[in-house]
Amino acid sequence: MRVTIQKLQQWKQEKRPIVCLTAWDYAIAQLLDMAGVDVILVGDSLAMVALGHSSTLPVTLDEMIHHTKAVCRGVSRAMVVCDLPFLTYQRDISQAVESAGRILKETDATAVKLEGGYPAMIDTVSRLTEVGIPVMAHIGLTPQSVRLLGYKKQGQTPQQQEKILKQALALEQAGAFAIVLEHMNEELAATITASLQIPTIGIGAGKNCDGQVLVTADLLGLSEKIPPFAKPYIPLRDIILQAVTRFADDVKSHQFP
Ligand code: KIV
Repeated sequence: MRVTIQKLQQWKQEKRPIVCLTAWDYAIAQLLDMAGVDVILVGDSLAMVALGHSSTLPVTLDEMIHHTKAVCRGVSRAMVVCDLPFLTYQRDISQAVESAGRILKETDATAVKLEGGYPAMIDTVSRLTEVGIPVMAHIGLTPQSVRLLGYKKQGQTPQQQEKILKQALALEQAGAFAIVLEHMNEELAATITASLQIPTIGIGAGKNCDGQVLVTADLLGLSEKIPPFAKPYIPLRDIILQAVTRFADDVKSHQFP
């Protein structure tokens, strides 16, 4: 049985932390699902970790759908959420319905995720929810705005904090079923979490969120650069490099096969 939106709400009430990680292909998704990850996010960070771009901006909707299909084939329990990539939902509401609709029609994902809040995204979230498309929101550091804001920690001044809290409340009101809080002041994330009925999923937002998400390539030590809030649990980049070097040496020295 797949993890549902209702289950996430229940876990928030029970204070049972929600485990979320990103995936970009079948093999990773299968392992995350086997390990009991609750929500698998096909994040647009795959632009960087799987496709080698320097930001999330270039990834296309077709590419996100392609990767989401592969992820869904590996998952039997977790909820799968797919990111709407840059400029596939910001132009107007009908563009957002079209793009999000494609994700739900062409993949087995349960929901879409989009970046931004009050006032720009509120009517969009409201319309998507109205037509039956579940929306996970994403505020704080929003990597699709990197050209404007950089990768700086958000919510550092009282004015910024007030704005971000207002965004969170408006997104809940508009129908979002969960909100990712990225790289923000820990007390602000705690206030938002306590103010909302829907779960918050933190990344670099402290321990008081209802759940935690990391980019799986960072957790596995596969990323070339790791953000300050991520924790590599295994140095897989080094391990793979050693294994492949040994294989290359064995082939060159006629030790394999
Ligand atoms: O794209 C992504 O991986 C994300 C996470 C950082 C939450 O949005």
